[in-house]
Amino acid sequence: MKRLLTGLQPSGTLHIGNYFGALKPFVDMYGEYESHLMVVDYHALTSLRKPEELRANIIEVVKDYVAAGVDPKKAIIFKQSDVSQHTELAWIFDCLVTVPFLMQGHAYKDKVAKGLEPNAGLFTYPMLMAADILLYDTDVVPVGQDQRQHVEYAREAANKFNITFGQTFTEPQEKIFDSVAVVPGTDGQKMSKSYGNTIPLFGTKDEITKAVMSIVTDSSGDRPEHVYAIHKLVRTENELAPLYEENKGSYKVLKEALIEDIENLIAPMREKRASISDEDVKQILKDGAQKARERAEAKMKEVRQKVGVTL
Ligand code: ADP
Ligand code: TRP
Repeated sequence: MKRLLTGLQPSGTLHIGNYFGALKPFVDMYGEYESHLMVVDYHALTSLRKPEELRANIIEVVKDYVAAGVDPKKAIIFKQSDVSQHTELAWIFDCLVTVPFLMQGHAYKDKVAKGLEPNAGLFTYPMLMAADILLYDTDVVPVGQDQRQHVEYAREAANKFNITFGQTFTEPQEKIFDSVAVVPGTDGQKMSKSYGNTIPLFGTKDEITKAVMSIVTDSSGDRPEHVYAIHKLVRTENELAPLYEENKGSYKVLKEALIEDIENLIAPMREKRASISDEDVKQILKDGAQKARERAEAKMKEVRQKVGVTL
């Protein structure tokens, strides 16, 4: 069976961009693979320095996973920091790649372009992500467009290791669906936790209403493009055509229709989510960590042998 893996950072509340770009593709595909779904808490540490917030976010993200349709019996759901082999392998990759190679990283370049000082964790971030992926011989990685480069980095790391120490790692392939590669936010830019332009995935109806009502409407043309771009994620374009034709220029009516459609999608998941306790989450992560650790350790035994630290 081929292997599928993805991960999301517990750096804030998940939004519909995360859902359509990464989580839903995982949910749609995972039954046909041996599947791993991570909460990448050490990656979140590159931007979050509030322990209570991180702890709470980890619990919330796992609830989101299960509510969105991932059965913990059919996929290994685990937290990155529970499997120390990830940071161990990341170090080995750090020693194989060059500084100029990492300097091409988008996340790092963006920080520098904004005049901010990136931490060393952000700089080597792609090698931790490569370790996440390669430890499990992952074939396919469902992600949004912004992660394409990171999966390329993982391929490079696999390749460098294989050339240097002999065939060890599978080269993974990203899976990016064109229609959801970049979900726009309420301002028309990419929806992102860090841009304050999100529609929360499990927000209350009031929160969703507030977010949708704040979508920037361009006054040129008959169709509010930013509203439509989000609407076509939840309804087919054929279904939307008559609605947008009948309500040309009535932005409020179209936004209200969008709120209803998002609500219809989320309400059943929200209900399921309410039945998952913090204790359930801790048990899921405990079971997942145990399974992930076994696999990761088997791979690391081979790696330690190959690089020459096992005597
Ligand atoms: P954010 O940018 O909100 O911090 P993350 O970097 O944690 O999101 O991304 C988690 C996953 O969700 C990744 O696979 C990423 O590609 C995907 N993703 C995030 N934002 C979007 C978006 N606007 N459209 C499509 N996919 C997205
Ligand atoms: N870098 C990804 C993001 O910000 C999160 C991530 C970490 C990830 N490790 C991964 C995604 C492994 C897929 C596979 O969204």
